[in-house]
Amino acid sequence: MFAFCFSAQELIDTISSAKESSLYDTDNLPANFFKSRRKALRSLMPKNSIVFVFSAPVRNRSNDVDFEYHQDPNMYYLSGYQEPHGVLVITKDEINVSGENVNELIYVQPHDESDAVWNGKRLGVQGAKNRLEIQSSFPNNEFKTLAVNLDDYDAVYVLKPENDVRNDPFDKSDLYNLMQQLTAKISEDKEDLIDDSKIKQWMAFLREVKTPEELVLMRKAIAITCEAQIELMKALKPTMKEYQAEAIVEYIFKKNGAEYPGFPTIMGSGENSCVLHYVSNRKEMKGSNLLVSDVGAEYHGYTADVSRTIPVDGHFSEQEAIIYNIVYDAQKAGIEASKAGNRFWDPNIAATTVISQRLLKLGIIKNPSELRRYFMHGTSHYLGLDVHDMGTYGELQPNTVITVEPGIYIPEGSPCDPKWWNIGVRIEDDVLITDGYPEVISDCVPKTIEEIEALMKQSSYLSD
Ligand code: GLY
Ligand code: MN
Repeated sequence: MFAFCFSAQELIDTISSAKESSLYDTDNLPANFFKSRRKALRSLMPKNSIVFVFSAPVRNRSNDVDFEYHQDPNMYYLSGYQEPHGVLVITKDEINVSGENVNELIYVQPHDESDAVWNGKRLGVQGAKNRLEIQSSFPNNEFKTLAVNLDDYDAVYVLKPENDVRNDPFDKSDLYNLMQQLTAKISEDKEDLIDDSKIKQWMAFLREVKTPEELVLMRKAIAITCEAQIELMKALKPTMKEYQAEAIVEYIFKKNGAEYPGFPTIMGSGENSCVLHYVSNRKEMKGSNLLVSDVGAEYHGYTADVSRTIPVDGHFSEQEAIIYNIVYDAQKAGIEASKAGNRFWDPNIAATTVISQRLLKLGIIKNPSELRRYFMHGTSHYLGLDVHDMGTYGELQPNTVITVEPGIYIPEGSPCDPKWWNIGVRIEDDVLITDGYPEVISDCVPKTIEEIEALMKQSSYLSD
């Protein structure tokens, strides 16, 4: 006989949570990866120390609508847990919890039938045990009874959520309460035992150098982003709106399975090409404009970050070409300096030297101290779970991914010949530091003037 009516529990069992992406995707990081990261962190911890890592806060957009949830990258890196209101505990030495000797445990949101109807099933305590393979997992409402006296530890390291921790009056185990419950485990006069600077340094050290599994995901995020930049070059034409260019890029991201952009899409044409983090993207583009497209797909937590600057009508003007080629040559010098053993800032020095000399020659600057007016950001940042990822800023290490992204921005009114005004150029690639020559992972997107102009003559399946 067919059952036409489902019990509440049966109904819930048929609802899969979108958050449990591992239900559908086959290329998620395995539990072993997260286990190896906890082990690596533990190896850096001193004797008799303990670490607490919290989930990211839920951020409210307005009224009863929250922003899409995004896990704190450190929580994700150490556990794979994707939900809010969780605490991960890692100890150097084993502790006895509920009769078991463990050195890691996680407190997670327990199943909640009524919440599941709206938001899908949570991972739950059992799911955390099975999927994340953390030694012990408990519902977060038991965190307050975790019998550790922090006064007994020589050091307590806490990765605190940065901001926006709201107290939900209907949830006694939300992040706000979990953080309060942590403080209750230590006497007031010992609160200075709690340290968050050391653990940030360790996380920077660990996250800077990528494992092979992470590099697979980064290559995927970068390949998707390259496809988006190439399709935009083919589809772009005068009178398009900046947001239509943004839509093309983000369509390619989603079509290829990227969960979101890793940062707000920057699509700045004409005067907006000179605004470094321009994100309103509302202007209608003119044929005479240059367009800075600075975009990155996020795939399973890892983000790409690739910029190209292209002429809206498919042809660089004489002045645009001159500025473009300076940035191009500066980037080449920056990439050449992106070698293991070099200092983090060496690509910046190499790129800055090229730009400074050439702008002096053109008379756009009169002395090198004026360079910051037209090139006001660093050439590189680390890339990974965050677009501006954590790192040590020491020597470049093999298997680190950095961006190399020099730029020149000459807004209207700048103290130089007006023929240069409103030219903004940024060229950005994602570069893998190796034992030998750096690998430009995003190299498949055309970059020379000739290559860009040739590609822009082709048509796109996304053109009207
Ligand atoms: N892609 C934006 C930035 O690097 O700041
Ligand atoms: Mn960047």
